[in-house]
Amino acid sequence: MLYVAPRWRCLLAVAMAIAAVLSAAGGAGAQETCSGAVPAPPKRGAWMSIASFGGAGDGRTLNTAAFAAAVASIQRRRARGGALLYVPPGVWLTGPFSLTSHMTLFLARGAVIRATQDTSSWPLIDPLPSYGRGRELPGKRYISLIHGNGLQDVFITGENGTIDGQGSVWWDMWKKGTLPFTRPHLLELMDSSNAIVSNLVFQDSPFWNIHPVYCSNVLIRNLTILAPHDSPNTDGIDPDSSSNVCIEDCNISTGDDLIAIKSGWDEYGIAYGRPSSGITIRRITGSSPFAGFSVGSETSGGVEDVLAEHLNFYSSGFGVHIKTNSGRGGFIRNITVSDVILDNVRYGLRIAGDVGGHPDERYDHNALPKVDSLTIKNVQGQNIKEAGLIKGIPNSAFSRICLSNIKLHGSAPVRPWKCAAVSGGALDVQPSPCTELVSTSGMSFCTSSL
Ligand SMILES: *[C@@H]1O[C@H](CO)[C@@H](O)[C@H](O)[C@H]1NC(C)=O
Ligand SMILES: *[C@@H]1O[C@H](CO)[C@@H](O)[C@H](O)[C@H]1NC(C)=O
Ligand SMILES: *[C@@H]1O[C@H](CO)[C@@H](O)[C@H](O)[C@H]1NC(C)=O
Ligand SMILES: *[C@@H]1O[C@H](CO)[C@@H](O)[C@H](O)[C@H]1NC(C)=O
Repeated sequence: MLYVAPRWRCLLAVAMAIAAVLSAAGGAGAQETCSGAVPAPPKRGAWMSIASFGGAGDGRTLNTAAFAAAVASIQRRRARGGALLYVPPGVWLTGPFSLTSHMTLFLARGAVIRATQDTSSWPLIDPLPSYGRGRELPGKRYISLIHGNGLQDVFITGENGTIDGQGSVWWDMWKKGTLPFTRPHLLELMDSSNAIVSNLVFQDSPFWNIHPVYCSNVLIRNLTILAPHDSPNTDGIDPDSSSNVCIEDCNISTGDDLIAIKSGWDEYGIAYGRPSSGITIRRITGSSPFAGFSVGSETSGGVEDVLAEHLNFYSSGFGVHIKTNSGRGGFIRNITVSDVILDNVRYGLRIAGDVGGHPDERYDHNALPKVDSLTIKNVQGQNIKEAGLIKGIPNSAFSRICLSNIKLHGSAPVRPWKCAAVSGGALDVQPSPCTELVSTSGMSFCTSSL
């Protein structure tokens, strides 16, 4: 036995107690996480500050050229392991700029990258092939504030620095109907892989906040995303035609869906044919006038193999909203949503086949989506108005919809489920589920998915 002087014994006991608590926390209670699902970036061989490219963080100087020069320099130097671009504390006003491969963009605590409100200086880019046109208006669309196309190994992180879109000028144009083209995102990554976005604040995006499209291996974690409830279409994070995406530990409150998984629009999305698959969403908290978690409505390339768990939504329109439409084609299948807490939410759950408009009149009216194998389980709701709606498409009924352990309470009696063109099973659901779900043959798919 080791000799320990009496005056150290007490300290040792405390240390051992702390060690025991820590190992218990790291054992059975350990939180599941995706960190590691995307390779950590290598140690960057070069480090540079935006301040040394003629930039100024005074909130007035326009730093668009400084960001472009810094990224060009990273590209030219090709440092071993890539390079880190440091954004010091201060307000760095800028127009849109693009990133390059093998780089880290790091925002110090107190650093703000702020979008210019001079909308006429924003470049336009081609519409996405899977949308055929801008999402809001025909033709081109504004490039995102921070843009990446065809990148590998890109890391956007910091010490809770802020990316501020100053979106009100765009929201006003939308409200007045004077918007010339589709509004820009705060961050769009196209056709890229091995990307990590973490430890930052995104606020007041002109349009959707974060849009990974045609990407693989994307990890988005530990973000705060904020926009007013009345800001139009300020979705939080929209993975689109992307695979192996994980979004975890984010607080999101915006004016539209907090997370929406998409895969292209009608005939353009069908022709492009790139699904969203292998998507994990966990520990998301927040509030939206629309949905906390959604799939759709643009799902023409298909959405499959999705797990969304430990969601906590309050003061929202819908807890979970899965939406598509005739003319979309594609599929939505093998989606599991579990462990959801809802408070003051209008509809607990909505799965509907009649949501969203069409890009033009050339869409195929006979392109019916297939919705199959959705499991929603362990949902606790209070202050809920309506249980929800599950409404399939007459010639393409939704199949194998499994509801389990769903308890929705209200201050007034919760309005009952409405169902049409759907089959599946329900176990332990309150208010009691519609007959379409309880009376159908064989519940084994439902019990086996629990
Ligand atoms: C989350 O981000 C904050 C800064 O925004 C940081 O202090 C904290 O350590 C991060 N947490 C994790 C688990 O990375
Ligand atoms: C990061 O900033 C957000 C928004 O201001 C704040 O809510 C959050 O607490 C901050 N997180 C840390 C770790 O400082
Ligand atoms: C989200 O909010 C919760 C509760 O306030 C907090 O514990 C967590 O750290 C926050 N996450 C982020 C990314 O700020
Ligand atoms: C369903 O999706 C999960 C990921 O959420 C995946 O692990 C599982 O293999 C998929 N099941 C089938 C039958 O494809």
